Amino acid sequence: MRTPIIAGNWKMHKNVGEAVELARQLDEMVADSAVEVVICAPFTSLSSLSALGVNKVKIGAQNMYFAEAGAFTGEISATMLEDVGCEYVILGHSERREIFKEDDELINKKVLKALEVGLKPILCVGETLAQRKAGETENVVVSQTTKGLAGVSPELIEQVVIAYEPIWAIGTGETSNGKDANEVIASIRQTLAKLFGDEQAQKVRIQYGGSVKPGNIAEFMEQPEIDGALVGGASLNVKDFVGIVKY
Ligand code: 13P
Repeated sequence: MRTPIIAGNWKMHKNVGEAVELARQLDEMVADSAVEVVICAPFTSLSSLSALGVNKVKIGAQNMYFAEAGAFTGEISATMLEDVGCEYVILGHSERREIFKEDDELINKKVLKALEVGLKPILCVGETLAQRKAGETENVVVSQTTKGLAGVSPELIEQVVIAYEPIWAIGTGETSNGKDANEVIASIRQTLAKLFGDEQAQKVRIQYGGSVKPGNIAEFMEQPEIDGALVGGASLNVKDFVGIVKY
């Protein structure tokens, strides 16, 4: 049985005080949940969130660079994230791919480095609206999954979480429906089975992301292949985030 995982991606929102307050409230309100709950906060809040000593909620970052250290102005390493108490790191989010021109090769280097230092990557994959209309959804997510996970050993694959986020559903209020998302996620799992063997593929958690709200989370969570959600906007508000965790 895979433990469901619901993660909030706060993107570029919240100063330290706001982040700490939201995390404190959330930690109390989801304390008895069987779901694994993660908040992926901006870099500036990570050490304060660790110092807060949350019990239930786990801490993640939203990006990192693959090098160990060096002259990479503006970048943050996997070891630095581990040092401030992160357990997870989102990698390959569509905003990083589109706005910051990250490609599969770079994302793959980040995935390998994160795993090397014991961070759990949340690898994001998903198609654009044009790709969906052209019937390319499966090809796109299979390719992003295969390239993003190149060189990962079968023993470590269960440390990886995959987030299927159709780009047209992010921040738009549009969502995929449970059945369609389940089909795409099933094709991601088949890809994992080819790459890492069926037994290992069955252990990997695969989330849905894109305009998840308290009112639509159940539709996704009742699908057999969907193991949680990566939540943007609705994770910025404690009531909505708790509503999603307690779907
Ligand atoms: P929204 O939930 O705001 O659509 O964002 C989804 C997302 O990008 C999470 O990573």
